[in-house]
Amino acid sequence: MIQQIEETVRSIRAVSSATPRVGIVLGSGLGNLSREIVVEKEIPYTDIPHFPVSTVEGHHGKLIFGTLDGHPVVVLSGRFHYYEGYTPQQVVYPIRVMKFLGVQTLLLSNAAGGMNARFRVGDLMIIRDHISFFIVNPLLGKNESELGPRFPDMSEPYDKGLIGKARALAARLEIPVHEGVYAGVTGPTFETRAEYKLLHVLGGDAVGMSTVQEVIAAKHIGLSVFAMSVITDLGIREDDNIITHEEVLAAANAAEPKLTALFKGLVAEL
Ligand code: HPA
Repeated sequence: MIQQIEETVRSIRAVSSATPRVGIVLGSGLGNLSREIVVEKEIPYTDIPHFPVSTVEGHHGKLIFGTLDGHPVVVLSGRFHYYEGYTPQQVVYPIRVMKFLGVQTLLLSNAAGGMNARFRVGDLMIIRDHISFFIVNPLLGKNESELGPRFPDMSEPYDKGLIGKARALAARLEIPVHEGVYAGVTGPTFETRAEYKLLHVLGGDAVGMSTVQEVIAAKHIGLSVFAMSVITDLGIREDDNIITHEEVLAAANAAEPKLTALFKGLVAEL
């Protein structure tokens, strides 16, 4: 694995020598932030050796080096989900590559189903903690010590300092935010009523199909992590709780400007 990562990094370095300290991964329907980036270099994933190849037709991911309001960042435009058929190791491969490119802080966003009764569609939730028991842990298998320890601590997957900064920033920008626990699931099915209830009883405030594997690999390798969910549906509701992908994308799109403002502000403070 380490050899592959080094080959990947060498190939990226042949095209860009940028060393941003901040990496960003954007969730479904939340990609508009990348439009605000002044691009220095874009590299299609298909040109990067050992990067997972997208199985979805017309879905071409790229690695973007550039600046956000003058601050250097690297963005994964297009992320890999376990439900698409990638192995957990493939899902987290770009996260590890970011670390080897010099990234120290990782910001992630996602669309998630709300289970906390106080949540409404379009709300934002700072992820304070997660539940990983319903996903496949990307660290299963032989541990490569260059990537991190065999038994990584997970007492604080989401950096308290970054959460504090985001909280203060949200207050300054008058953007209401919740804080809560994100329960990771594999998807691709949305949850049954019984499953939403179960995840809520277990301590989840929101549920989603991404982020947790990436955060585990990021913590393993020593990155500071901040993540935020946009609540796109309320599965816990007893009445009309039929959920569609279209509804999720529409809600994510509508809430996107708030998320973008927070991520921009946060990047400026790092
Ligand atoms: N469940 C799982 N993943 C999701 C949901 C949900 O309700 N909404 C957006 N992603």
